[in-house]
Amino acid sequence: MEKYAEQTQQEFEGWEEFFNKPVDEKVNAFRSGNRIYDVIYAQQFDRAFLDYLCRLADSIRLLAKTKVGQSKLRHLLPHKRAMLYFVQPSTRTFLSFQNACHILGITTSETRGTSTSSEVKGESPEDTIRTFASYVDLIISRHPEAGFAEKTAWVLNQTDHPVPVLNGGSGPDQHPTQALLDIYTLEREFRTIGGLDGKKIAMVGDLKRGRTVRSLSYLMKNYQDIELVYVAPEIFKMKDDIKEFLDKHRIPFTETEDFESIMPDVDAIYMTRIQNEYGSDPTSEAETFPQFHLRPHHLPKIQTHCAILHPLPRRYEIDIRIDKDPRAAYWRQERCGMWIRAALIAYIFRVDDDIQDELS
Ligand code: CP
Repeated sequence: MEKYAEQTQQEFEGWEEFFNKPVDEKVNAFRSGNRIYDVIYAQQFDRAFLDYLCRLADSIRLLAKTKVGQSKLRHLLPHKRAMLYFVQPSTRTFLSFQNACHILGITTSETRGTSTSSEVKGESPEDTIRTFASYVDLIISRHPEAGFAEKTAWVLNQTDHPVPVLNGGSGPDQHPTQALLDIYTLEREFRTIGGLDGKKIAMVGDLKRGRTVRSLSYLMKNYQDIELVYVAPEIFKMKDDIKEFLDKHRIPFTETEDFESIMPDVDAIYMTRIQNEYGSDPTSEAETFPQFHLRPHHLPKIQTHCAILHPLPRRYEIDIRIDKDPRAAYWRQERCGMWIRAALIAYIFRVDDDIQDELS
């Protein structure tokens, strides 16, 4: 598709001032009454909300096991429409959100790239999002730019026709709904051993540019006695802002490049891939860092209850022979994504009580 003009740049009065505030001071801008309205940062979630959403996801899952339950879920929100604006590649976030909408009866529209939208004519991203809000009741976005969801939600909230915005991944910055599904998965994997409290979790790979490990790290402040181990090559170490956040909330963490040495000590291993899409030099980005891969010969070294997670997609970080090991939780993890996103959407549209009532 021919591009007719560069995208129009628009300046919104008050945006820069808002953007530069600490997140703690910004979260109220994305609430409505006593509820979360837009989902932008992982820091918006507290323990009560996380526990509640996990229970709600379990309820939706249980209802969806029967035809009658599925029909009840589909009749909750048939009057709502959602737009999936995914202009950065995605398989599971897109599909899990789309199917979460369909489980609840919501009709969906989608844009999978800017080349077929009026952005090629020079329309700004903010006007594009505002246009979606003219037609739908919910916008779910995935964008290569850090802070994109935050800005568009803020802009919409200044208009007389706002709709909730859910951040499905914004550049190397945040992926808050991935963090929700990671928590849901960890709580389920540790269900028989006291849940996530008191656990030691290793995050492995490209921690510098991986938004999933950033958002998940933020959520650790909600759990008791958590310890983190960041395992990364020197060039992909976790950024200082997250380490400062952990210090502030007294969450102990260590850093190492010696993956094998920490394997016997941890309750969960969260693997990630190298995020080459944010690199500028394809030659240096070709390195696969095999010392940060999980291989079958590592399995005897890890604890019998150790949960192996990965936000996916994977490349070579986890050998496919590990998939059959009962500790490999990543395929269960991606299914958890659909249920927790259905729970989130039900909460946003305030049909969560109807779901719980069905089971009481
Ligand atoms: N985990 C995740 O965000 O996957 P996708 O990029 O496939 O959506």
